[in-house]
Amino acid sequence: MELNGKVAVVTGGTRGVGAGIARAFAAAGAEVVVCARRPPEVLLKGAEFARLDLRDPDAVGAFFGALPRLDVLVNNAGGTPYRRLADVDAARHARVVELNLVAPLTASLAAYEHLKRAGGAVVMVGSVSGGRPSPGSAAYGAAKAGLESLARSMAVEWAPEIRVNTLVLGMVRTELSHLHYGGAEGVAAVSRTVPLGRLAEPSDVGAAAVFLASDAAAYISGASLLVHGGGEPPAFLGAATANRGTRHEMPREKRREKRQEEEWARQEEEQEEEWG
Ligand SMILES: NC(=O)c1ccc[n+]([C@@H]2O[C@H](COP(=O)([O-])OP(=O)(O)OC[C@H]3O[C@@H](n4cnc5c(N)ncnc54)[C@H](OP(=O)(O)O)[C@@H]3O)[C@@H](O)[C@H]2O)c1
Repeated sequence: MELNGKVAVVTGGTRGVGAGIARAFAAAGAEVVVCARRPPEVLLKGAEFARLDLRDPDAVGAFFGALPRLDVLVNNAGGTPYRRLADVDAARHARVVELNLVAPLTASLAAYEHLKRAGGAVVMVGSVSGGRPSPGSAAYGAAKAGLESLARSMAVEWAPEIRVNTLVLGMVRTELSHLHYGGAEGVAAVSRTVPLGRLAEPSDVGAAAVFLASDAAAYISGASLLVHGGGEPPAFLGAATANRGTRHEMPREKRREKRQEEEWARQEEEQEEEWG
C-alpha cells in the first residue's frame, strides 16, 4: 500500500474532512494519529486520538516532541463562523487567522525535525476561498491565501528533505454542511452549481491527500492541487442574456433529462430496426 510503514498526524482528524483523510491514510497502510480539542464521536478505525488545542504553541511543541517518529503532517484543522467584516472587532477575526494560518505554521515547525529525518511531507488543507473574494468569511479567505503562500515558501526552504503541498478544496459534504448551505435542499441546490454535480466527499479529499503524501508524488512540492469538482463558473455567465442554453450553464438535471431523451430515442430506433 502507498503509505505502508508511515506515521501520519492529521490535525482535526476527528470529523468532517479530517476524518476522511484519516480513514484514507489508515486504508493506505499508515499509522495515524488524529488530534483535536475533543475526542471523535465515532471512533475512527485504525487511528489513535490525542487531545490538543492547536492554538496553544507549548502544547503543540510537547505533542510533536513526544512522538517517536513522523513521516506526514496533514494540517487540516480549520474553519470559521459566518461573520461580516464590520460585525466583530479585529481581535475576533485574528482568532480565525490563528487557527487557519498560524496553527499550521506552529505545527509544521514543531514537526520539522521529525519530517527532516524521515524525508517526509506536509499537506496543507486550503480552500478556494483563498483565491477569490470571501464575503462573510474574509479573515478565513485571507488566512487560506496565506496558507498556500506559506506552503510554497516552506517547500523551497525545506527541500530537498521535506515536500510541502496544498489541497485547495471546494465544498465538501460533512456533518456540518447544513450549517453552511441549509439542509438537504440547500445542499442539493449548491450541488447543482458544481460542474461535477455534487459536493466532494471527505473520501475524495482523503484520496488526494494520500496521493500528495505518497511516493507517487515524489517530485511534487510547492504545488496546489484543486479538489473542487470543476470549480465555480463565473457569476456573470448566469446573469448574461447572450449564449443561453450552452452546456456550461446547463444544470445537472437538464443534462440528465437530455441524456435520458437521447437514450429513449436510441432505444426506439433499436426497436424499430428489430421489429420493423
Ligand atoms: N467543509 C468544507 O466544505 C471545506 C471547504 C474548503 C476547505 N475546508 C477546510 O477543510 C478543513 C476541515 O474542515 P471541516 O469542514 O472538516 O471542519 P470541521 O468539521 O469543523 O472540523 C474541524 C476539525 O478541526 C478541529 N479543530 C478545530 N479547532 C481546533 C483547535 N483549536 N485545535 C485542535 N483542533 C481543532 C475540530 O475538532 P475540535 O472542535 O474538537 O477541536 C475538528 O476535528 C479546514 O481546514 C477547512 O478550512 C473545508
